[in-house]
Amino acid sequence: MRFRTVKIAESKTLADIHKESFKDFFLTSLGAHFLDTYYKSCIKSNESVAICAIDENEKMVGFSVGCLHSKGFHKRLIKQNLGTFMLQGIIILFSKPKAIIRLVNNLGKNTDKNDNGNYAELLSIGVLPAYNGQGIGKELIKRFEDEAMNKGCSEMALTTDFDKNSKVLEFYKSTGYEIYYEFITYPERKMYKLKKNLK
Ligand SMILES: CC(C)(COP(=O)(O)OP(=O)(O)OC[C@H]1O[C@@H](n2cnc3c(N)ncnc32)[C@H](O)[C@@H]1OP(=O)(O)O)[C@@H](O)C(=O)NCCC(=O)NCCS
Repeated sequence: MRFRTVKIAESKTLADIHKESFKDFFLTSLGAHFLDTYYKSCIKSNESVAICAIDENEKMVGFSVGCLHSKGFHKRLIKQNLGTFMLQGIIILFSKPKAIIRLVNNLGKNTDKNDNGNYAELLSIGVLPAYNGQGIGKELIKRFEDEAMNKGCSEMALTTDFDKNSKVLEFYKSTGYEIYYEFITYPERKMYKLKKNLK
């Protein structure tokens, strides 16, 4: 297995891995085009980190994507890619109107009054189910953290589900993340914010 930076042209592969590894998640329900748009704009951003795992047959089997400075990142991303996000918004508005309400309600919301967002954030990590439990996820996080540290970040955070998520929580705890706080996203989804000191 080797690890490298994701290329812009590989956003669709990220969307495919996302669909496989995040089967019943809200973002997945928004469809392949939305995921492609989201990942492409993340990879293109000069404040993002995007690492992938490539197996011996040159197949991408996992990725980690995030940003160097969490505060306002998604708002900046939308501004920088306004046309494509507006198009996706219109498509979703007609195909899944309730999803737009959920997206808008959760966009850039301050989740805790003491959280200033001054840290790097892992926004998405996925490993194809057939490759789980081989240490790939752990390495994808480590490479992400190394790059964030090299670019001056001293803390990293991420959001994960509170309920029915013990396996993923164990995974994050085994990589050094600790519970920062709990919060609720629209509509009534309980989440954990986890944080790790990188220094
Ligand atoms: C979470 C995910 C990225 C982990 O990737 P992975 O490559 O399977 O994980 P690793 O093999 O690197 O496991 C690392 C650690 O996680 C823990 N872990 C992994 N699988 C586990 C399981 N089935 N049960 C309990 N702990 C587990 C172990 O503590 C392991 O540490 P160890 O190496 O000391 O045993 C992967 O399962 C995935 O893509 N899940 C679906 C998408 C998702 O939920 N992403 C996170 C959203 S917040």
